[in-house]
Amino acid sequence: MSIDIQKIRNDFPILNQTIHGKPLVYLDNAATTQTPQQVIDAISDVYTKYNSNIHRGVHHLSNVCTEAHEQSRIKVQQFINAKHSHEVIFTRGTTEAINLLSFSFGETFLKAGDEVIVSNLEHHSNIVPWQLLETRLGIKLRVIPITDEGELEMDEFKKLLSDKTKLVAVAHVSNALGTINPIKEIIDLCHAQNTPVMIDGAQAIQHIKVDVQELDCDFYVFSGHKLYGPTGIGALYGKEEWLNKMHPYQGGGEMIQTVSFEGTTFNELPFKFEAGTPDYNGAVGLGVAIDYVNEIGLETIANYEHELLEYATEKLLTIPGLKIYGTAKNKCSVVSFLVNDIHPYDMGMMLDKMGIAVRTGHHCAQPLMQRYNIPGTVRASFAIYNTREEVDQLVEGVTRIAQIFA
Ligand code: ALA
Repeated sequence: MSIDIQKIRNDFPILNQTIHGKPLVYLDNAATTQTPQQVIDAISDVYTKYNSNIHRGVHHLSNVCTEAHEQSRIKVQQFINAKHSHEVIFTRGTTEAINLLSFSFGETFLKAGDEVIVSNLEHHSNIVPWQLLETRLGIKLRVIPITDEGELEMDEFKKLLSDKTKLVAVAHVSNALGTINPIKEIIDLCHAQNTPVMIDGAQAIQHIKVDVQELDCDFYVFSGHKLYGPTGIGALYGKEEWLNKMHPYQGGGEMIQTVSFEGTTFNELPFKFEAGTPDYNGAVGLGVAIDYVNEIGLETIANYEHELLEYATEKLLTIPGLKIYGTAKNKCSVVSFLVNDIHPYDMGMMLDKMGIAVRTGHHCAQPLMQRYNIPGTVRASFAIYNTREEVDQLVEGVTRIAQIFA
């Protein structure tokens, strides 16, 4: 199916501006995607038409707002094909979702000597929460090594899996390399020995159709702001049987059934994990972002972005001295590179002067950079509104910078 990218770009007002006198080329979508007018309007509508605290009021506005919030939960449920909407817990984003899981799963199921497996290509948000459990509970974190291409060493993973393994937590897609991990194989291997699996979908949810029932993952987490939605909202999907057993995360309003000084009982799912006033504005925005993505079609988005990635990879590789980090067979949306010994910050700052926004540095994946013995990379990451012309501008910019340094 052909898509009208210019029409899509018109939905994103932020793209239509100049930076340092040059048209903006926004290639930092793995950090955050931009937000279409439809989402901006939906959030504005909450504040201008029906802002009111949810699940608490008997009055009209509260009911309207509650309904909008819960409709968004259903949209998330349908988007990832969860069995029940109460298996969708709204969080501030991926980071909070993993912290929720590590705390609540840890409190309920983990003890000293138990092991949690992550991989060498994880974002810090899927490393540090588990390290906190090493300190607090005495668990042990084990790490799946990766190949030079940036793929998980599956034979090593099989060796790490044991009856001490109580959870495996891996990224669906690497934020720094773009590798698509073989998560179905990981889930099947883990389930063969009754070990649950959490998938960090922060870099996948906007590029790959996720069906949590088909994957049979136990937990799946993602952020709204990488899916054309607002910041401060994301979700933890968890199978009902796990979530029901898990200790609550934060205490406060709405997560309780009854409170007395003699003892407190907790609310049912999903509210047990949603203490305090939820970010209903964010949830409504996320729901509209999902509508937006559904309207274009995730498959159409994926195909288009894949073409862009292949085009960018091919073009960048024509630049003398450029090395791409992350050459896995299955990749999406991200191209990470260095040119000779040009520091990624220098490259990033000079690209910025040309109006080109990329991310530079360790990408919150320092153990991965240590694996390659590099300070960081320059990362270009694509979204549905990017164009081949923008890739050409990136390639031209990098070529010029390389010539200046030479
Ligand atoms: N996790 C985001 C990134 O990779 C911020 O840039």
